Amino acid sequence: MTTQASPLPRHVAIIMDGNGRWAKQHKIKIALGHRTGVEALRAIIRESSDLGIEALSLYAFSTENWKRDPAEVEALMGLLLEFFTSEIDELDEKNVCIRILGDKDGMPEKQRQALINAETRTQSNTGLHLNIAINYGGRAELARAARILAEKALRGEIKPEEITEQALSDALYTRGLPDVDLLIRTSGEMRLSNFLLFQCAYAEFLFPTVLWPDFSLEDYHQALDAFARRDRRYGGRNS
Ligand code: FPP
Repeated sequence: MTTQASPLPRHVAIIMDGNGRWAKQHKIKIALGHRTGVEALRAIIRESSDLGIEALSLYAFSTENWKRDPAEVEALMGLLLEFFTSEIDELDEKNVCIRILGDKDGMPEKQRQALINAETRTQSNTGLHLNIAINYGGRAELARAARILAEKALRGEIKPEEITEQALSDALYTRGLPDVDLLIRTSGEMRLSNFLLFQCAYAEFLFPTVLWPDFSLEDYHQALDAFARRDRRYGGRNS
């Protein structure tokens, strides 16, 4: 197992930003920028699993990304399908438990099947919880959770006063997982872009300027070191 400064975050979330700019810098097609981004994410998943991080959440495709050029959307859909087909054996072997955050029903049929298959096949694995946000939006996730709770209340299964923070948390895609401890967004942009709004309430944020395809294991270790040095107070005071 790799050594790393402690404490380690239990849950790391990453907004993998900058594939487009990277492609532009290298004067290549955007699709190739995303493909190189997938290489970076494969290395980060493996490292997170080897370090013993409990949960890793990656923002792969937002509900807003459908607005992009159809050729780019098609390239991303192709990469997703390829990823879930080619990586599943290794991830399963590494005891990784895959969960999709987002609306799978809004995905093209082939991709939808591949996502369901990845979740079903790895659901009893006890290693890294790998959450991949696809067709995901944080506000939509909260609205969905409210609907789930409202339906339970209508059926008489819960009382309105039982709608607590915990009940809301349990109605999110990330139910059962710890809150996000560390959120990394590459490329220097400093926005949350509708990612894990509830789960990031007490997260530490890091915004390295490196573009995602260039995000290396060294960059990841630096981020984890920076996290270990942060003073987390959760609204209280450390004397
Ligand atoms: C942001 O870069 C990145 C995305 C919108 C997609 C991220 C997707 C991948 C890394 C590949 C697909 C994922 C999996 C799990 C196979 P950008 O295009 O917004 O970059 P820019 O801001 O420089 O244009």
